[in-house]
Amino acid sequence: MKEKLQNLQKTALKEIFSAKDLKTLKEVAVAYLGKKGKLTEILHGVKDLPAESKPIIGKLSNEIKVELEKAFADKNKEIENLEIAKSLNEEWIDLTASGEKYEYGHLHPLTKTQHEVENIFHGMGFMVADGPEVECEKYNFDDLNIPATHPARDMQDTFFLDKKPDVKLGKLVLRTHTSPVQVRTMLKYGAPLKIIVPGRVFRNEALDACHEHTFDQVEGLMIDKEISLAHLKGVMAEFLSKLFEKEVKVRFRPGYFPFVEPGLELDMSCTICGGVGCKTCKHAGWLEFMGAGMVHPNVLKAGGIDPNVYQGWAFGFGLTRLIMMRYGIDDIRVLNGGDLRFVEQF
Ligand code: DAH
Repeated sequence: MKEKLQNLQKTALKEIFSAKDLKTLKEVAVAYLGKKGKLTEILHGVKDLPAESKPIIGKLSNEIKVELEKAFADKNKEIENLEIAKSLNEEWIDLTASGEKYEYGHLHPLTKTQHEVENIFHGMGFMVADGPEVECEKYNFDDLNIPATHPARDMQDTFFLDKKPDVKLGKLVLRTHTSPVQVRTMLKYGAPLKIIVPGRVFRNEALDACHEHTFDQVEGLMIDKEISLAHLKGVMAEFLSKLFEKEVKVRFRPGYFPFVEPGLELDMSCTICGGVGCKTCKHAGWLEFMGAGMVHPNVLKAGGIDPNVYQGWAFGFGLTRLIMMRYGIDDIRVLNGGDLRFVEQF
């Protein structure tokens, strides 16, 4: 019996040591120490042994049981550690490898340039003002000295809202320009006033590469007691030179807008050729940039400002056009088209 036990001990230990994985080890454990395991059966049989061998065999069996249990536990730990090491090896990370590239969003070229414009004017003491995109006829037209007969008020040019007109404010329209914010801010802040108004405007246009129903403008307004067009020239030359990061010259030509008197068009020296003449400026050396002029006394009055005390100038340029010029974009429709192939280039 003793010999049988010792043989069992030997083979059990051998099987334990040679087990390569937890599953095999568990099978070995069950085979020896399980309910019907070889050693368990011997232990059960101890009580039937003759009295003289009972204590010896009983003691030996128990010792072997403890030894095997310890061997199982040790081997179990060893296999577990090996498996952890193996999985760590498999999960190995190369910290020097270049990572996966994530797609980041970024500001649209329109927004980016708008922020730059705002910053430059801010630096010259201008406040950035805002107004509603759904405007009323009074601010969009009447207060700007634009008569009821003006073609801009035609159904063809303007998106009118299908709502009963207000007696004082008239019909609701999608603002056709940023100029209505002139009177709105005059009424709100009075004089003196130095503002720019970047914003979206809407016109009922037939769409093509140069015309969109929705585009962006920047309005400017400077009102004080001794303001002349010389200030406008200085401000615009400074603004454009900062934006294009090179010296830009400006010049005035006569122009007509009902809300200014005198009215003018401002040209800028071509940023491509510097004024010498090239394809972009059609060899003129100048590019048309914006409309401007001295604010009409009627507009000042509509804004609650006394034209005998104060005067000032106003301007309005197309932010959309400026961006097209800046980035060499030849189709206006891509700007609001939402095509990522376009947007991702910026
Ligand atoms: N509102 C004009 C337009 O949309 C642009 C403009 C011209 C604005 C002259 C002005 C100005 O403030 O003085 O065409």
